[in-house]
Amino acid sequence: MTADGADVPISWESGRQTNLVNWEERVPIHERGYALDRFREDPGYLSSVVRTDLAALAAFLPDGGVSGLEVCHLQCHIGTDTVSLARAGARVTGVDFSPAALASAEQLADELGVKATWVETDVLEARDAVEGEFDLVYTSIGTICWLEDLDRWAAQIAGLLRPGGTFYIRDTHPVMLTIDPDANELVQRDRYFANGLAQQWEGEYTYAGDEKLTATRTYEWPHPLSEVVNALIGAGLALLRLDEDWRLPWKFSSRMVEVGDGDWAWPEGERDRSPATFTVVARKPA
Ligand SMILES: C[S@@+](CC[C@H](N)C(=O)[O-])C[C@H]1O[C@@H](n2cnc3c(N)ncnc32)[C@H](O)[C@@H]1O
Repeated sequence: MTADGADVPISWESGRQTNLVNWEERVPIHERGYALDRFREDPGYLSSVVRTDLAALAAFLPDGGVSGLEVCHLQCHIGTDTVSLARAGARVTGVDFSPAALASAEQLADELGVKATWVETDVLEARDAVEGEFDLVYTSIGTICWLEDLDRWAAQIAGLLRPGGTFYIRDTHPVMLTIDPDANELVQRDRYFANGLAQQWEGEYTYAGDEKLTATRTYEWPHPLSEVVNALIGAGLALLRLDEDWRLPWKFSSRMVEVGDGDWAWPEGERDRSPATFTVVARKPA
């Protein structure tokens, strides 16, 4: 039996296919776990992830916001963040490889009267699959760990941006992903650097909701922060900002405590020991 998190020589095609089956199964669970009623009850409601991201992006956008901008949201899942960006005034295109996620996103947007375009494609083939060029390419929280090749990912982003366009990512910090979530203290357990191999994981539960999955296996590709930054530079983007934060908008470990507005953190006293998220803002030269 393969140990959880062990390196395995799975091909990208087959690892990706296993992940797709898992993501398809998460959709109905997340429809219940993401508290979608908050969007239904308040026409002004934006996800806490997007509220945080819009504040971080303000200094880099014309007029400080996304109003009137063409925004491409990569790995949009069930559309809660995409709808939030649209509510903030953007013209949005949501991209994901999961037909179930996109159907759910489209249904939510239609129900809320939000206009959006939805494109089913692998993010690593997004440039050819999506029409047009964008002022902002946005992706956040739970994205690059699912991708083998960040150079190819960055090339899609550069191709989707219009000259002068902005790229934004906030994701779980790769250092956080090395920590053992089940240990009683901060202990590094898993690999930090990329080595070309995927890690194989078995998980009965997803991060939102308490229903069990049957498609329990996933593959993740660890990427150090330097790889993320260098992939974007290699694709011709100029770095505008790199930040790290101790808050995380999902509960990575049962030891984490709520710190407000949907964020979680290690218990007080441990928060300055390890980063929880990173944020990069980059721009395609005009
Ligand atoms: C954790 S969600 C990220 C979205 C956002 N943080 C949220 O919670 O709504 C990850 C998304 O990536 C998608 N995904 C994973 N691998 C992908 C790939 N190779 N191409 C396109 N989408 C992919 C999954 O279907 C899923 O919707």
